[in-house]
This record gives sequence, C-alpha cells and structure tokens, in this order.
Amino acid sequence: MTFTIDQFRLDGKVAVVTGAGGRGNSIGRAYALGLAEAGASVVVADLNAEGAKAVADEIAASGGKAIGVQVDVANEASTLAMGAAARDAFGGVDILVNNAALMVDISYDNIETISLDAWNKAFAVNLNGALLCTRAVVPSMRERGGGRIVNQTSGGAFPAIGLYGISKLALVGLTTTTAKVLGKDNITCNAIAPGNVKSDAGKLLVPDDSPFIKFLEMTVATRPRGEPDELVGTLLLLCSEAGAWITGQTIHVDGGWVMRP
Ligand SMILES: NC(=O)c1ccc[n+]([C@@H]2O[C@H](COP(=O)([O-])OP(=O)(O)OC[C@H]3O[C@@H](n4cnc5c(N)ncnc54)[C@H](O)[C@@H]3O)[C@@H](O)[C@H]2O)c1
Repeated sequence: MTFTIDQFRLDGKVAVVTGAGGRGNSIGRAYALGLAEAGASVVVADLNAEGAKAVADEIAASGGKAIGVQVDVANEASTLAMGAAARDAFGGVDILVNNAALMVDISYDNIETISLDAWNKAFAVNLNGALLCTRAVVPSMRERGGGRIVNQTSGGAFPAIGLYGISKLALVGLTTTTAKVLGKDNITCNAIAPGNVKSDAGKLLVPDDSPFIKFLEMTVATRPRGEPDELVGTLLLLCSEAGAWITGQTIHVDGGWVMRP
C-alpha cells in the first residue's frame, strides 16, 4: 500500500468525544472541531448539555455534521444512551475519544487524609467512565469492521503523584488492556498524555505565574505550555488509517516534559 495524505481523512466516520462541551476553550472542543475538520460526523458528549450543544452548533455552522449529547460517563445507562444517540443520528460509531475527566474538581488532599468518597468519585469518572463509554460503543465498532479508541491520560501520571495522576495512570492500564483484547477486532486503543495545556480549565488550575510553570520553564525541552489545538494532530493520527498499526501506546504531547525511551 502506498501512503497518501488522504489516510488522515475521516470522511464517513463517526466520532464520539466525551468531555467536549464543558468550559469554553477546552481540549475536548479542539478534538471535536479537529475530527469534524477531517471529515468525521461528531457526537459532542458532556455532562454539560448546553456546552455540548454549543460545540455541535459551532461544527454545524462551519459546514460539519455534529450533535450534542448529555452524558454522565460514570453512569452506565447514560453511556448506553449516548451510544444509542450516536447510532440514531449517524448509524454507528467508529471513533471514541475518552476525554471527560475530573481535573479541577478533584481532591488534591494527600493520600493519608483524602476521603474515600472523593477517591471513588475520581475513579468513577476518570477510569470507570472510559470503561463504560468503551463498552457502550464497541459492539457498533465491531459491526462496522473496526474502530479507534483514544484515552486522554496526562503527563501528570508520569510519575503519578496524587489522586489525579493515579487515576490517569490507571487509564494507561485500561488502554493497554483494551488494545490487547480488541486488537483482533481491528479496534486500536491508544492514549494521549498532554503536558500543561492552556485550556480554560488548565489556566484555572495552573495560572501562568504559578511556581509550577516556573519549574516547567526550567525542565521542559521546548515550551512549558501548549494550546488545545496542538494535540489535534496526534489525535488524528491515532484515529485515522494513517495510524492503523499503532496500538497500546501512550503518546506524550508536551513539548518535551516527560521523556520516555
Ligand atoms: N489542561 C491540561 O493541562 C491537561 C493536561 C493533561 C491532561 N488533561 C486532560 O485533558 C482532558 C480535557 O481537559 P481540559 O483542560 O479541556 O478540561 P475540562 O475541565 O475543560 O474538560 C473536562 C470535561 O469533562 C466533563 N466532565 C466531567 N465529568 C463528567 C462526567 N461525569 N460525564 C461527562 N463529562 C464530564 C466536563 O464537563 C468538562 O467538559 C481531561 O481528561 C484532562 O484530565 C488536561
């Protein structure tokens, strides 16, 4: 097979992006817009129904196809309804981006004092959410002859320090397991580990003048902070024919923060 640039196109594909309708300038929004730009029909899914609809409307206004769907990724019935909504609107699902997560609204208490409720809530969304959304769409991917799953982890999992990092490292384990189990069905599963991204949520959590950014300026190979759009190219590689032979991987997109051999 000879490579052509068209292998990055997603015309006729259906993509579900969770966590794509929350705070204004979010990574999920950039993912949804990028997938639509590559030709996919997009299901913009979020706990925030209005935000999901706003991003879907933005895609439609620029000539793409999208619907907004309210979903609670931690609730199995809700994820199944999301899968059904995708089938009703576009006939099935080819691509799932498990991007929804608690990052700002998560406990940063230390492991000796953190409440078990806070712990369980984080895992319910950041890990179980990806599992439930995967299970909700895999039957459709199988029917359609294959699929692509991308789990959004974080540079903050390498190494994991605190609940957020632990939940994101667990998601890497789900990624390799999913890749192994579904590979024979022509379904790939990979993870993207962004560095510090200037989404609205990222800026709220880590302001530009925080000591953490000063530290990153000294350690990151290029720039310590990126824009949501700078993650989209990697997503399109993992979601398209161009990335068909990549599975079980975690790709760091972080300017050279976490460097793994
Ligand atoms: N911003 C960063 O610096 C950064 C770095 C590494 C990884 N990430 C990851 O990237 C992803 C997006 O981050 P962001 O900066 O755009 O943050 P964000 O807070 O804007 O996005 C998270 C989204 O998840 C949604 N959500 C939360 N709980 C949900 C639930 N139960 N069901 C459905 N949706 C739910 C929120 O409404 C929100 O839209 C997250 O997985 C985050 O952990 C972000």
